[in-house]
Amino acid sequence: MKTRLLFFIASLMILIISCQTEKKKTPDKEDKIGPRIDSIVSLMTLEEKIGQLTLYTSDMDQTGAFIRKEYEEDIKQGRVGAIFNAYGVAYTRKLQELNLQNSRLKIPLLFGYDVIHGHRTIFPVPLAEAASWDLDAIEKSARIAAIEATAEGLHWTFAPMCDISVDPRWGRVVEGAGEDTYLGSRIAEARVKGFQGQSLGDDNTLVACVKHFAAYGASQAGRDYHTVDMSERKLREVYLPPYKAAVDAGALTVMTSFNDLNGVPATASKFLMTDILREEWGFEGFVVTDYTSIMELLHHGVAADTLESSSLSIHAGVDMDMQSGFYQTALARLVENKKVDEQLINTAVKRILKVKFLLGLFDDPFRYCSPEREANEIMTTEFLVSAQDMARKSIVLLKNENQLLPLDPKLKTIAVIGPLADSKRDMIGSWSAAGDWSKSVSLLDGIKTKLPYTTILYTKGCDVDGENKDDFMNAIEIARKSDAVVLALGEAFWMSGEAASRTMLDLPGVQQKLAEAIFATGKPVVAVLMNGRPLTINWLDENVPAILETWFLGTTAGDAIADVLFGDYNPSGKLPMTFPKNVGQIPIHYNMRNTGRPFKAQDKYTSKYLDVSNEPLYPFGYGLSYTSFSYSEVELNNTSISENESVEASVVITNTGKYAGEEVVQLYLSDKVASVTRPVKELKGFKKIMLQPGESQKVMFSIGKDALSFYKEDMIYGVEAGNLEVMIGTNSAQTKSAFFSLK
Ligand code: GLC
Repeated sequence: MKTRLLFFIASLMILIISCQTEKKKTPDKEDKIGPRIDSIVSLMTLEEKIGQLTLYTSDMDQTGAFIRKEYEEDIKQGRVGAIFNAYGVAYTRKLQELNLQNSRLKIPLLFGYDVIHGHRTIFPVPLAEAASWDLDAIEKSARIAAIEATAEGLHWTFAPMCDISVDPRWGRVVEGAGEDTYLGSRIAEARVKGFQGQSLGDDNTLVACVKHFAAYGASQAGRDYHTVDMSERKLREVYLPPYKAAVDAGALTVMTSFNDLNGVPATASKFLMTDILREEWGFEGFVVTDYTSIMELLHHGVAADTLESSSLSIHAGVDMDMQSGFYQTALARLVENKKVDEQLINTAVKRILKVKFLLGLFDDPFRYCSPEREANEIMTTEFLVSAQDMARKSIVLLKNENQLLPLDPKLKTIAVIGPLADSKRDMIGSWSAAGDWSKSVSLLDGIKTKLPYTTILYTKGCDVDGENKDDFMNAIEIARKSDAVVLALGEAFWMSGEAASRTMLDLPGVQQKLAEAIFATGKPVVAVLMNGRPLTINWLDENVPAILETWFLGTTAGDAIADVLFGDYNPSGKLPMTFPKNVGQIPIHYNMRNTGRPFKAQDKYTSKYLDVSNEPLYPFGYGLSYTSFSYSEVELNNTSISENESVEASVVITNTGKYAGEEVVQLYLSDKVASVTRPVKELKGFKKIMLQPGESQKVMFSIGKDALSFYKEDMIYGVEAGNLEVMIGTNSAQTKSAFFSLK
């Protein structure tokens, strides 16, 4: 009886605490939240605390009935703190009401989802957005995704993915920002700012989640979920900075990665989740596992049972268990057996409650359940215009022999051929969440809309995959009848993304045979690539006069590609990832080390292959334009500085062609002699500028301690005296140099 009375008083107190504040427009600031959180935690039972550490996927069937019967009871009893894959105002309201009307303490549920590159309006896949090098556009893409996702009841996205990768065999390169640490860091910041906006107290801001921590992109042999093993120097120099940039930009959650790192699975790694993330970086949000990672510690072979894997994770600093249910099963017993101190659980609960408070959910658990917003803030014209702008900017012109592009819109007959030419589903790529592919614009749609009076002939020619050539003759026939051929080739959306690694990066199936047959007709051919990773398209590069890399551009794909094909937009994208000549070269990236025997053609005993050059098919930062740009010599305002000074480097770029166009001016640094071997060059800055025909612009870069610091031989991060080469240019292989010394 006494216990029940205590519980009743406790509930009354909670009700007073959480209702004592009328529905606030903006939630309390962090300093006021602390006492409110402490008072709630002091009233919670151990089971209720563990409930806050438990995240489950929604699992209602079409009728709205729970598939897992005990799920409804879990929610009612406060044994679930967050749900993912549930969105829509009605559905999230239903789940929230179930929780608030039944649970004792009425702690609001948190709703999360993979809003990776748009929610309903699907933007280009993240690797494509990275090719735009346009940080404002990338931030806006995330902002629009947040507006749409929150309009459908979501509070939290499992993005940005900040995994650097130099291995295009790995299917998840499609979700990231490519191979470079500096570009990846700037993009991570932009995405967090876009998602979280000015204040999480606004009802259209989404909590970001930095993933997958850490170094998931270095999976052995590019095989997903595989082992990661590297030096601490490489970890800190190459892989960690983008995660840190996202944390520094204010991201409030971090997701553990599936992989083990140097023998310790990330989900059991105190080094990652506590030493680095909290003690070095000062992260104050909460850590969630990737899917069933706590259970997967059993497969990794570092835990023998549920108790041991749960204990490893909570001691490592993992706060929330996604989907494995191990915390729900084991933590209470671990506390009872004194294997886990309840204080550890209290700390995790407080981190999670803080995020819910910052979102304003305690003041109004339904503040994201607005039918008006859901009716008016989804796939608006403004959002679609922004998506098409982002898509155009993400396109990379890889080849344009004799200026075949842009095609003349007055051409009488155009053949549109290829397995991806009229695909809507592939346009929105992988991780397209709530995107409705039936609303996307195929390339064929886009060309027909652009050229209503032109005769457009279409056939598939072949499938993306498979050996069937039955439609080849038809394809050749329509090519012969045309003035020009647009040939859409590449991968299906499912050939990249999670669990989608490939050992061969050629065009799948018989697509190259189709290309050879169409090329043999002698008609002008433009290849439009649609893919989620770099491909080894040597034959296309050698034979086809024009090649556009269009990735998977999202809802407005066909319109954006048509804009570029017919000159309404001059392509400005630059590759965020090296394209290898073949898989044997992987890992190949622009910032490798020089070695003691750098390649010399006349010297056998130097670092090379017998069968392929060391050069990639296309280098990092590469992309052409319909116009041309000239670069002046690089000027430095100083050729000798001390460590607290900076060098101003400048270059004048001139548009020497006949089209207005944007150029991504790239700054690389090379440290000639240091206490450790250094990359032959590293991206340290970039600026995207627009120039009219004939126009010139001086671009300046300031090079200071940040750009010059690295992990020295003793692993201390800082600068060393030495000679530096400044390289500025249009891609990582075409630059102009100047030199200075650091005293
Ligand atoms: C997946 C992915 C992760 C995603 C999570 C939730 O396995 O690895 O990126 O956010 O599960 O869907």
